[in-house]
Amino acid sequence: MTPIPFNKPYITGDELKFIEKAMSGRKFSGDGPHTQLCQDFFEKNYSFTKAFLTTSCTDALELAAIAADIQPGDEVIVPSYTFVSTANAFVLRGAKIVFADSNPLNPNIDVSLIESLITSKTKALVPVHYAGVACNMDKIMELAENNNLIVIEDAAQGIHAFFKEKALGGIGHYGAVSFHETKNVMAGEGGMILVNDPKDVNRTEVIREKGTNRASFIRGEVDEYKWVDKGSSFLPSDLIAAFLYGQLIHLDTIQSRRIELWKHYYLELKLPELERYFRVPVIDDFSSNNGHIFYIVCNSRQERAGLIAHLKKMGILASFHYQALHQSPFFRKQHDGRVLPFADKYSDCLLRLPLFFELEKPQISFISQCIREYYQST
Ligand SMILES: Cc1ncc(COP(=O)(O)O)c(C=O)c1O
Repeated sequence: MTPIPFNKPYITGDELKFIEKAMSGRKFSGDGPHTQLCQDFFEKNYSFTKAFLTTSCTDALELAAIAADIQPGDEVIVPSYTFVSTANAFVLRGAKIVFADSNPLNPNIDVSLIESLITSKTKALVPVHYAGVACNMDKIMELAENNNLIVIEDAAQGIHAFFKEKALGGIGHYGAVSFHETKNVMAGEGGMILVNDPKDVNRTEVIREKGTNRASFIRGEVDEYKWVDKGSSFLPSDLIAAFLYGQLIHLDTIQSRRIELWKHYYLELKLPELERYFRVPVIDDFSSNNGHIFYIVCNSRQERAGLIAHLKKMGILASFHYQALHQSPFFRKQHDGRVLPFADKYSDCLLRLPLFFELEKPQISFISQCIREYYQST
């Protein structure tokens, strides 16, 4: 078997065509025709109120934090098992992060714990849809409504994924999506903010354009553009959007392939005789599966390290994921001391297996066989 990488970004073959179009149109800066095509694609296909491309999901989260008016001293509830950007966006505004634990059954935030973390200072709640699997958004939105909180969905991995019938990122007040090269559709680096309450659209647009009303000026709504609010530069070049559009028009093919591969892993690894060694992903009935990540949860950090080494010896690159943020060098002294056993568990024991468009089913069978061999030999 030739070595199997953890990820191999997929090129659809249409990216260059759109990049060339962007070049021949001599429009390279942000908010050009390809940015519009991408935004329209999302608004039409997923009924999003407003989609704005950003340079990354990190930027989309930072933009959301400014738009939500997060102030020093505000408390923001974030799962500990997530990427640093989920928390950093709010730390940059001076907020106090209150970390929540994950579910016993999957790495998403444990919704049953949220109420006990809400205080008079809580301003926002940031659910992360890990692996494109939806958090229970009915419960989260009910808690938000009862406590007057702003919900910012971190849907970095949530493209073409749904809670019941609703697309992830489009349910809270804001949503943030990633097009980093590890994602199902990608632009190298890239992202998108979804603004779901029409009353927030204009202000988000201004903050994204350095605090100016330049977008209104370009639409001919004002005679000149001015500095009207705080802001920064969050919009990507139209070249990035052109690349992304070359991916988006193949989204259905990409999604069905990834789901097919995910199901093949499930078939190979969800076996009664393997249950004592590791768990496979659990997807609640209210969530779809977008085939973003296939992971297993080992019994211990040592077992996972042994499995990673065994797979590496067999030419297979498997990867752990986040380190629980309440234990991070930056945050651990600020953490209030609560034990977050499931965030720790996923930090220590979750292992992501290779999953990318060009992976073949026989390779998945081989990876699964190597995993079985590892446990049978221990
Ligand atoms: C949950 C989560 N949020 C945010 C991000 C940041 O995304 P980006 O790399 O597009 O900034 C990531 C990165 O993968 C992520 O996993």
